[in-house]
Amino acid sequence: MGVERLEEVRREFTAAIEAAGTDPEAVERVRVRFAGKRSGLLNELTAALRELPPEERRDYGRALNELKRFIAERLEAAKAAAQAGPAAGFAVDVTLPGRRPPRAGRHPVHLVRRRIESIFLRMGYTVESGPEVEDDWHNFEALNIPPDHPARDDQDTFYLPGGFLLRTHTSPVQARVMERQAPPIRIIVPGRVYRRDSDLRHSPMFHQVEGLLVDEGITFGHLKATLETFLHELFGDRVAVRFRPSYFPFTEPSAEVDISCIFCGGSGCGVCSGSGWIEILGSGMVDPRVFERVGVDAERYTGFAFGLGLDRVAMLLYGIPDLRLMFAGDARLTRQFS
Ligand code: DAH
Repeated sequence: MGVERLEEVRREFTAAIEAAGTDPEAVERVRVRFAGKRSGLLNELTAALRELPPEERRDYGRALNELKRFIAERLEAAKAAAQAGPAAGFAVDVTLPGRRPPRAGRHPVHLVRRRIESIFLRMGYTVESGPEVEDDWHNFEALNIPPDHPARDDQDTFYLPGGFLLRTHTSPVQARVMERQAPPIRIIVPGRVYRRDSDLRHSPMFHQVEGLLVDEGITFGHLKATLETFLHELFGDRVAVRFRPSYFPFTEPSAEVDISCIFCGGSGCGVCSGSGWIEILGSGMVDPRVFERVGVDAERYTGFAFGLGLDRVAMLLYGIPDLRLMFAGDARLTRQFS
């Protein structure tokens, strides 16, 4: 005890108030610890006065008063600085370079969508959209997907209360557009779709582009020419395009379309599983049963439709190995596409 103790407390206080900076809560904690009415250190030091031998009391008392004034002043200053906010505590160095906001890139899915849109806009198509929360009619029924079709299983479909669901493909927008608009129709529909699926190549949310053309006299030849032109624009003139017979409930006949593998040129590699071909889209002539359901005259009109996965195309074009990377929200991915 004695004047040395007062020196010690002054050093402790100085360190504490400097550490507290402009944080109001930290300043308050320092105040309570040193100058608190009940258990502050200054009270203790005042009480200690009475324990001292009489000849030491004068010096101690004077030093104690000095310390009290010092602490009160510094606390006052720290409180004012805390109120003014952190910036007020620092001088501004105007010669420092400005801080750059992080530069956003473009998402690969967005880039592919824009490329596909621009190809079809040049062919006279318009871009349409529809709701992601769909009803059973547009997602399944109108598209001639029967009640026992596996896609309707709640293993595959996210069902919502009230008979709604998250659309499992962009095809329902075909039905919506045909219901409200008479042919000729020439649309593409990029958008988000949802399925209960998650692994290296599947994500519960992914992207598709739907295409639909309806007019008088449309044939499978128009479908072939359109898709060949599209795929050559997107992947380059050198890729080979192959049509394979397939089945979709909403088209008849139906075809799946492959391109020769853009990595090995068709000789076989890991990306194409040695086959030399990569499946890229589904397509077909609109089934007359779909026309009937949405109120298009099937005697007068024919049409073709197609659908493809945007994410898959992005992975192929930009060499992205894992689908989940694209939805992880990591700016290190998008920064590569600025
Ligand atoms: N809706 C299909 C799917 O999600 C893709 C598709 C295939 C769309 C053929 C079409 C089509 O319009 O004609 O797998």
